[in-house]
Amino acid sequence: MQGPTFAAPRADAILLDFEGERRALAQYEAAGGWAQAKAATGRAFDEIVQELKDSGLRGRGGAGFPTGLKVSFIGKGDRFLVINADESEPGTFKDRELILRNPHALLEGCVILCNAIGAKATYIFIRGEYATEAEVLNAAIEESYAKGYLGKPLSGTSNAVDIYVHRGAGAYICGEETALLSALNGFRGQPTAKPPFPAVSGAWKSPTLLNNVETVATVPYILAMGAQTYQALRTEQTTGTRLMSLSGNVQRPGNYELPVTATYRDLIDGCGGGVAGGRTMKAFIPGGSSAPILMPDMLDTQIAVETTAAAGSMAGSGAVIVIDTRTCMVQFALRVADFYRHESCGKCTPCREGTRWMVELLKRVEAGEATMDEIDLLVELCDRIEGKCLCPLGDACAMPVRSYLKHFRAEFEAHIDAPACPAGPASPFGALYPSLRRTLPVVPA
Ligand SMILES: Cc1cc2nc3c(=O)[nH]c(=O)nc-3n(C[C@H](O)[C@H](O)[C@H](O)COP(=O)(O)O)c2cc1C
Ligand code: SF4
Repeated sequence: MQGPTFAAPRADAILLDFEGERRALAQYEAAGGWAQAKAATGRAFDEIVQELKDSGLRGRGGAGFPTGLKVSFIGKGDRFLVINADESEPGTFKDRELILRNPHALLEGCVILCNAIGAKATYIFIRGEYATEAEVLNAAIEESYAKGYLGKPLSGTSNAVDIYVHRGAGAYICGEETALLSALNGFRGQPTAKPPFPAVSGAWKSPTLLNNVETVATVPYILAMGAQTYQALRTEQTTGTRLMSLSGNVQRPGNYELPVTATYRDLIDGCGGGVAGGRTMKAFIPGGSSAPILMPDMLDTQIAVETTAAAGSMAGSGAVIVIDTRTCMVQFALRVADFYRHESCGKCTPCREGTRWMVELLKRVEAGEATMDEIDLLVELCDRIEGKCLCPLGDACAMPVRSYLKHFRAEFEAHIDAPACPAGPASPFGALYPSLRRTLPVVPA
């Protein structure tokens, strides 16, 4: 079943024109690209910071931290810019498409920020699995050197910028900024305690500005249109547009750029054509798998940071996952928790042990071997993880599982009372845990 079409005005397509690729330098320049890097060379650090603050731009990596404020924190000394292209939060695939279709927007944003903070180098830390994306970036970097945008100062500045692509080895935790910096510095990719913050000690133990791909790629567009124009498209605390990765049980999955005033209904029904196969929505995840689920009655929530938080979840990385009524929430919880268990770096006990115990308990519930007490134990386990870990990965496991228990407790209990999974073998996750499901009688179709 196809939902109503969401008619986003063209003016809202600030970051990406999905009908036209800007992969090659000539295409990007023809669309006005690299003009902002040249224009910004004469502008002082304070001026750029103020423009970013006025624009209201918030980081797109997950936490939604105000970008202008972050730039203003940068310490004194040899500074570096690091781009977070790790993009490992399940459901998130926007940075990848941005790099593939518009790599020069990211490179131009890097040059603008490097010149503003006086950094001579940018390191783009890209997840190991993104081999093609790394190639596209390297090709765009090569073109930019040949054209003189990189490697020598642009007119109006004495700062020459180099950009390096550094491929990670495929660990989710290397998306967390301190783990990323440890890996970049040649150490094990594990988080470190803050302070010191990257703004004081990051790449090569120097003051480092670390931002997400989409955040930095937005900067040239903000300078082009001016902070006032950008921030005019706004909710109370969030401005502009953002790229939303839509996946799960939806008719037309993909990346869509929406104004922050749009709602999850606009995205899922309008852009995505509604739930796949005309089925019924059970719940949706608004901001990546670490975000608590929201029920369908929250579909009219705006996608902005503060509106999603007020609805009881988080806008996170902008990854929306649609869950239809065939899905067994116990299997879903097991799939999510098992991901975080596997990706826990093991450095701190509540996360290392807690995620493992969560998976063990969920396996018992799924297999019909748990007692009712063990459901309460799952909630207690969430209490023992949340807010007690070195980095937010532990919370990323506990928060969603707690939300599944809150909204679907009866489904968890039914796995204990009933002889089989109430969702039956049709659950999209049924095939993932065949060994557990074999212990249950098969429900007739
Ligand atoms: C476990 C974990 C994984 C993360 N993964 C990513 C990621 O893949 N990409 C990203 O940009 N930020 C990720 N972040 C957020 C970064 O730590 C950091 O806040 C962000 O890159 C800052 O950029 P921004 O201010 O532009 O959002 C992750 C955070 C945590 C705790
Ligand atoms: S919370 Fe998990 S991932 Fe983060 S430092 Fe502790 S063990 Fe490592």
